[in-house]
Amino acid sequence: MAKQLVPVANRPVLHYVMQHLRDAGLERVGVVISPETGGQIRAALEANPWCLQFTFIVQPQPLGLAHAIKVARDFLAEDPFVMYLGDNLIGQGIRDFTRSLAETGADAAILLKEVADPRLFGVAEVDGAGRVLRLVEKPADPPSRLALVGVYVFSSEIHQAIDTLQPSHRGELEITDAIQRLLEQGRRVHSTILNGWWLDTGKKDDLLEANRVILDECIERDLRGEIGPSSRADGRVSLGAGARLIGSTVRGPAVIGEGTVIERSFVGPYSSIGSGCLVADSTVEHLVMMDGARVIGVARLEDSLLGKNAVVRRAPGNRSVCRLIVGEDSEVEL
Ligand code: G1P
Repeated sequence: MAKQLVPVANRPVLHYVMQHLRDAGLERVGVVISPETGGQIRAALEANPWCLQFTFIVQPQPLGLAHAIKVARDFLAEDPFVMYLGDNLIGQGIRDFTRSLAETGADAAILLKEVADPRLFGVAEVDGAGRVLRLVEKPADPPSRLALVGVYVFSSEIHQAIDTLQPSHRGELEITDAIQRLLEQGRRVHSTILNGWWLDTGKKDDLLEANRVILDECIERDLRGEIGPSSRADGRVSLGAGARLIGSTVRGPAVIGEGTVIERSFVGPYSSIGSGCLVADSTVEHLVMMDGARVIGVARLEDSLLGKNAVVRRAPGNRSVCRLIVGEDSEVEL
């Protein structure tokens, strides 16, 4: 599935992004989609509670972020714009940041955050006064630990910079290189250090971390489902309509989607369980289960991500045998 649609606290990452754009006062959003996952993205945005005006723009091949701007050229016209990568989550939203271009007269505004391993990101070299000297994409030998967060504001000057780019070693037109080009042309690039948290959910470990942070910050006790005999929901638990606890305990913060059944089980903190799921005769904690996933007879499952309709169950009889059907891009730790 599209990584922008992976759920965090039972909401797709992309929905947080749209909320941030709305909160920052934006109204028109060009959504760059791929031929493979475009349909899923359109469907996920159809309800549109943010009342945004969407234009879907197909990027025929994944040729980079600067290329995504190129295919959106007609939509963008000569207007300044925000580019927000759909798999990035930023704790404080982007309201203040989106004003920085107009306030400073720069041609690009970037957000920077110190990270443990800058080699996985675009990296900025800044001087003592915080001025950006140089930007480099995924350097083997990073000049600093300041990574480029996946939200940018640009004036229309970025289009000329993109037109001069050559594909990088990974065959992409890099937005980092385009901003570097602006610097080389003597244009102003304004940088802000992000104080709050930022998670790049496209990176493996960040998704569970994002889930933990959002459950901590956003989940309120809200019990719409049914709590049967010998069952408890302790603390900040959101239990969707039609969900049922049968002989089970759920300890918050946790969110359980509509119609999900938890029976003879313990659901520990930091669990996000989608709609139509089943947890039976098991203990689960600190995990994300997407819609329709089932965990049956598993003594303890934690730090895990289960895709839609995935099933994890104890093999009947011989407990030392594992039987697995493992889908694309999966990882199993035994
Ligand atoms: C992209 C950018 C990179 C930036 C990162 C933030 O990386 O190229 O500069 O730091 O997003 O999420 P990618 O997701 O293509 O690896």
